[in-house]
Amino acid sequence: MPRSFAAKAIVPPAIAVTGFVIVCCILLYSVIKTDMLNDAIQHETNLADTIVKSARYAMLKDDRETLRNIIDNVGQQKGVEHARIFNKKGVIMFSAHPEDIGKLLDKKEAGCVACHSGPVPLTSMGRMDQARRFINEKGRHVIAITVPVYNEPECFNAACHVHSPSQKVLGTLDIGLSEAPLQKTLNVMQGRMIVFCLMVLLLTVGGVSALLRRNVLLPVRELADYVSAVKRGDLSRKAPAYRDEVGELARAYQELAHQLKERRESPDEATQDGPAGDRGNRS
Ligand code: HEC
Repeated sequence: MPRSFAAKAIVPPAIAVTGFVIVCCILLYSVIKTDMLNDAIQHETNLADTIVKSARYAMLKDDRETLRNIIDNVGQQKGVEHARIFNKKGVIMFSAHPEDIGKLLDKKEAGCVACHSGPVPLTSMGRMDQARRFINEKGRHVIAITVPVYNEPECFNAACHVHSPSQKVLGTLDIGLSEAPLQKTLNVMQGRMIVFCLMVLLLTVGGVSALLRRNVLLPVRELADYVSAVKRGDLSRKAPAYRDEVGELARAYQELAHQLKERRESPDEATQDGPAGDRGNRS
């Protein structure tokens, strides 16, 4: 534990301020990170909905060539890690990676379990349930979205009559976007926040120390010097003149020192001389 008053007055508050600033910055960072992640998921869900809408006509006309084209083009877009359409049995019908076509996925897979966790599959899911984050086989961080392709009157009234009206979900579209841009933004933000944190720390700790030094530590130092000077017997020294508690203490000490000195110089005068002298003067 530090000994001097200055160290006691500055070090613990500095540590406390540092702790607060760091905790607040970490909290702020995690809140912003969650917000940005939610934004990214929102954006990706919109993208997936757009793809389903643009593919709708091709699906309705059973135009597999066009559908394959749409998925291929989406897959070539920068940042798209995978794009594929499952039929309702969980078989990949279209994929930007041709080698995946025809693969059968289990209902327990990450993108499927949101609807297939219970005995009766759900027909819809919350926006955030649609998203999942994972590291793909290439080692890239991916945010993937699964959106259902719903059965609509146009689908079961179409000439081909493949789908029955009772069927709600015809299949799912699964699209995965790279998290790299998000991570990059987060890293930049992290760096800025560290700089900001250091700046706040330097300014607050520096500013508070300077004020404390000027308003408290220097007067206390002066008082201590004064007291030790008086203790050595140097009564000619001027007491620090402050209009606060330090000044009060200094004046009180000065008075005490003077009283003590008077008594020391004339030990009996103080007790005998006063009343005796009075009597002598009167007679
Ligand atoms: C939007 C929610 C949803 C998602 C996501 C979903 N399914 Fe389904 N799935 C359903 C519904 C609803 C049915 C019942 C189909 C119907 O309407 O008749 C179903 C039916 C099935 C069936 C046939 C019925 C059964 O239970 O055996 C299989 C197999 C299947 N899904 C596999 C998958 C696989 C694999 C995935 C992931 C790639 C997946 N599903 C993703 C909602 C979903």
